[in-house]
Amino acid sequence: MESITERFKNQAISATPVAVRKICCIGAGYVGGPTCAVIALKCPHIQVTIVDLNQSRVDAWNSPDFKLPIYEPGLEDVVRQARGKNLFFSTDVDKGIREADLIFVSVNTPTKKSGVGAGFAADLNYVELATRRIAAVATSSKIVVEKSTVPCRTAESMRTILEANSKNGCRFDILSNPEFLAEGTAIKDLFSPDRVLIGSLQTPEGISACKSLADVYGNWVPQDRVLTVGLWSSELSKLAANAMLAQRISSINALSAICEATGANIDEVAFAVGKDSRVGPKFLKASVGFGGSCFQKDILNLVYLSESLHLPEVAAYWRQVVEMNEYQKRRFSKRVVDTLFNTITGKRIAVLGFAFKADTGDTRESASISLIRDFQSEKAYVNVYDPQVEHSQIWMDLSEASPSMSLDQIKKQVTICPSAMDACKNAEAVVIATEWKEFNNVDWEAIYAGMNKPAFVFDGRLLVDAEKLRKIGFQVTTIGRGERL
Ligand code: UDX
Ligand code: ADP
Repeated sequence: MESITERFKNQAISATPVAVRKICCIGAGYVGGPTCAVIALKCPHIQVTIVDLNQSRVDAWNSPDFKLPIYEPGLEDVVRQARGKNLFFSTDVDKGIREADLIFVSVNTPTKKSGVGAGFAADLNYVELATRRIAAVATSSKIVVEKSTVPCRTAESMRTILEANSKNGCRFDILSNPEFLAEGTAIKDLFSPDRVLIGSLQTPEGISACKSLADVYGNWVPQDRVLTVGLWSSELSKLAANAMLAQRISSINALSAICEATGANIDEVAFAVGKDSRVGPKFLKASVGFGGSCFQKDILNLVYLSESLHLPEVAAYWRQVVEMNEYQKRRFSKRVVDTLFNTITGKRIAVLGFAFKADTGDTRESASISLIRDFQSEKAYVNVYDPQVEHSQIWMDLSEASPSMSLDQIKKQVTICPSAMDACKNAEAVVIATEWKEFNNVDWEAIYAGMNKPAFVFDGRLLVDAEKLRKIGFQVTTIGRGERL
């Protein structure tokens, strides 16, 4: 793989790269917010304006007490250092576009809910609207950068829209610069990325635009970590990276089912397999199922792309990764019911964790949502506790998951609790759905004392010390661990 230095050494840049002085980021979400806040911090000479149509989101980014709309370790510190100096948040999208040399498009690309490709394809409406806005208001040339995860060849549609609507003398160069940060470690990932990927057309202008963006990252990222590729490879690499990470989790989760049936221990299997340097130890943690805004969406996107390209076997291969994940979630809730003597009707279940993973307040595609929906349909009562997720978000997610139930009906079955201890009071079972560290440090003896007996713990995250809990008196069921010796 060519690094940016080699690329620029090997290819003459006939167009002079623009020195970026002003950046606009369209979309103040999980991607745009942290990414551009870090760019502002690391590039004090560049003015960064993050714009969003959502007034309350922008207000939260601007809040005097730094009550930011996103919980992300280290983010507040970054915003405190840069906000008001060279980092601004605004709803004035047009002004942001007009003033910028370089524009990141970081809007949401959810899975389509209706129409062609519903349930699979990415909804590119937000990308298109943002692109049309750039074309409508720009009065000077811009480098337009796709940050949102988009299907392969989206840049081409963006270019067509921009060129068809641009004013005289305005030129638009499109780059793809997918974001690989993971929630919970976003700031760490942005400070020290494994790689920064920039895709451009292999024309002199494309390469020059690529150099302009590479120079921005060059303020803190070592040059050999800035990789430059063609536009389509860059777009596809983001989908490929997420698909392969998710595939590892589905593989280990498929093995966890075998472990439970045989008495093998998935942690030991993952450790043994991961010691092979060709496999490596990361992303081999069995769980109740992966969540988050990216994995499922991006794989379904890849499935749709494969089908559109008449590659049904390829589509089926990737689809199975998502199906395995759905199976894992179903399998886990069934195991809870089976263990509680085949019925949970009228029983109280404490669900610890609602975020899709620890250290984030994000709940998109969280396994907890499916688990609670399953428990509700078995007519159980559910107490839920999460240290970060807003209550309104929990109600919204549960309502969406059970559209035939009114919120009042849901609230008769589900209670949001202020602590893990409260959630477990008078419960028959505790289900650990998110690997928050604090669940390891709670007073399990006190929890046991407050529960109905026999008291069960279902660890969907391989988090707690099962032996310690058994000594207290709990019946413990752990994902990927069978009872047979
Ligand atoms: C992911 C990619 O990691 C990131 O590079 C990309 O930019 C966005 O998508 P994210 O969704 O924030 O990031 O979280 P990630 O840490 O990848 O976890 C995704 C899900 O997989 C979580 O639910 C997590 O709990 C689960 N997971 C992760 C496992 O179940 N086992 C593992 O070993 C790792
Ligand atoms: P991601 O996880 O990809 O960052 P989010 O949903 O957290 O996704 O954030 C995307 C943001 O983009 C939202 O805050 C949304 O209001 C904003 N957005 C969508 N379309 C536009 C647009 N045309 N102009 C400005 N902001 C937009």
